[in-house]
Amino acid sequence: MTSPAASTASAAARTAFAAALAQEPGVHDSAIVAAMARMPRHQLMPRLFAPLGNDRPARQWRLLDVADDPEQHLAVCYGMDQVVVQLDGRPTGPLTPGTEYAGVPTGQSSGAGLLAVTVQDVHLGPGDRFLELGACTGYLSAVAADLTGRQATGVEVDRELARDAAMRLAAIGADVRVVVRDGLRGLPDGEWDVIAASFAVRRIPTAWLQRLAPGGRLRTTVTTGAPGWHATALVHRDEAGVLSGRLAAELWGNVPDRAGGWIPLPNTPADSGRSRSSVLAPPEPAERGYWVALAHTLPGVRRHWNAPGFDDEAVLVASDGSRAAVTRDGSHAVEWGPRSLWREAEELHARWAAAGRPAEYRLEFTGAVQRAVGGPGLSWQLPMD
Ligand SMILES: C[S@@+](CC[C@H](N)C(=O)[O-])C[C@H]1O[C@@H](n2cnc3c(N)ncnc32)[C@H](O)[C@@H]1O
Repeated sequence: MTSPAASTASAAARTAFAAALAQEPGVHDSAIVAAMARMPRHQLMPRLFAPLGNDRPARQWRLLDVADDPEQHLAVCYGMDQVVVQLDGRPTGPLTPGTEYAGVPTGQSSGAGLLAVTVQDVHLGPGDRFLELGACTGYLSAVAADLTGRQATGVEVDRELARDAAMRLAAIGADVRVVVRDGLRGLPDGEWDVIAASFAVRRIPTAWLQRLAPGGRLRTTVTTGAPGWHATALVHRDEAGVLSGRLAAELWGNVPDRAGGWIPLPNTPADSGRSRSSVLAPPEPAERGYWVALAHTLPGVRRHWNAPGFDDEAVLVASDGSRAAVTRDGSHAVEWGPRSLWREAEELHARWAAAGRPAEYRLEFTGAVQRAVGGPGLSWQLPMD
C-alpha cells in the first residue's frame, strides 16, 4: 500500500515532470503531456539503473530499487532522460540493489520528449487501435491506451521485460495486452490505426505496412547502424490504401532492434595516412539532413565520436577499415585505407547542397521498394526486407 507521504512525493514529481516535458523541443500537445504525467511511470519500473559518471551514453550504473531510495527513484523516473531497466539482456531480479554494474542498456523507457513526440506525430486519437513494437516497460502503450480509450497492444521480444510489464501494467489498471514476439518476424493478428516502433530498423518491414489500416499512421526510427545519424519515418495509408511518407532527420531516435546493433569500429591504422589540405569543413552534427543522406548513400560508414587522439577532428570510419580525420575548420584531412572517405563525403555534400540542403526526404513505396527522395540528384533506396 502507498503511504500518504509517498503519494504526495509522486504527485509533486509528476507535476514537475509535466512542466519540464512541456519545455522539451518539439513537444506542444498539452493533452499528451497531461496523459504522460497522469500515468504512474514509477510503478512500471521499480528497479532501474541510475547512470554514474558524466559519460553519455553511460557505461557504469548503480542498481536502484524503489524500496531503498524512493526519492532518487522518483527523480530518475520523472526526469527527461531515458530510464534504463536492463543491461546486456540480463534479468535484474538476482542483482543486488545499491551495487555498481557495467553494461550496455538493452531495456529502457525512452526519453520523455521522444515519447511525447512519438504520440504527437501519429495523431493518436480516441478509438485508435494502437500497436507498439518494442514495448519494454509498457509505459508508452499505457499512455496510448489512456488517450485512445481502448486496449493497446505492446510487442516485446524479451521474455522477462514482457512478463514484468504485463504484471505491472495490470497492477496499475492500464488496458495493455503484452505479446512476447520478435516484431521483425510478424505482428499480432489484426489491423492497426497506429503502429509505433520503439526500436530502430534498417527499412520499414513490409509486414508492418501491410497491417496498417486505411487512414493508418506508422512511425519508426530508421538507422543504417551509424550512431547519431538516424531519421524518423512517418507513413500514412490513405483511405484508398495508398502509402506515402517522409523520412525526417531529427534530434531524437530509438536505438536499433536487438539483432541490429551499431556498425563496429575498425582497428586504428598503424600508418600515418594520406594528407590533403583545404577540404570541406565537417558540417555541424545539427546538419542532420546531410548526415542522414551520408549514412544511407555511403552505407557501412559511421562517425567515430570521441576518437582518442582526435579531439579537434571529425573522424569517419568504414567497415572495410577506411578512415578520414578532418579538422573542424576544413583546412586539412588525413585519409587511410582503400577509400577516399572524405572525398566521398565532399561529393555528397555538393549533391545535398544542390538539392536545397533537405532535412527531410519524401518516402516513395513501389511494390516492395522503399525510396527516399530529397530532390534532383539526391535519392536512395532503403535495403530490401
Ligand atoms: C527503447 S525500448 C522501448 C521503450 C518503451 N517505449 C517504454 O516506454 O518503455 C525498446 C525495446 O524494444 C525491444 N526490442 C528490440 N528489438 C525488438 C524486436 N525485434 N521485437 C520486439 N521488441 C524488440 C527491446 O527489448 C526494448 O525493450
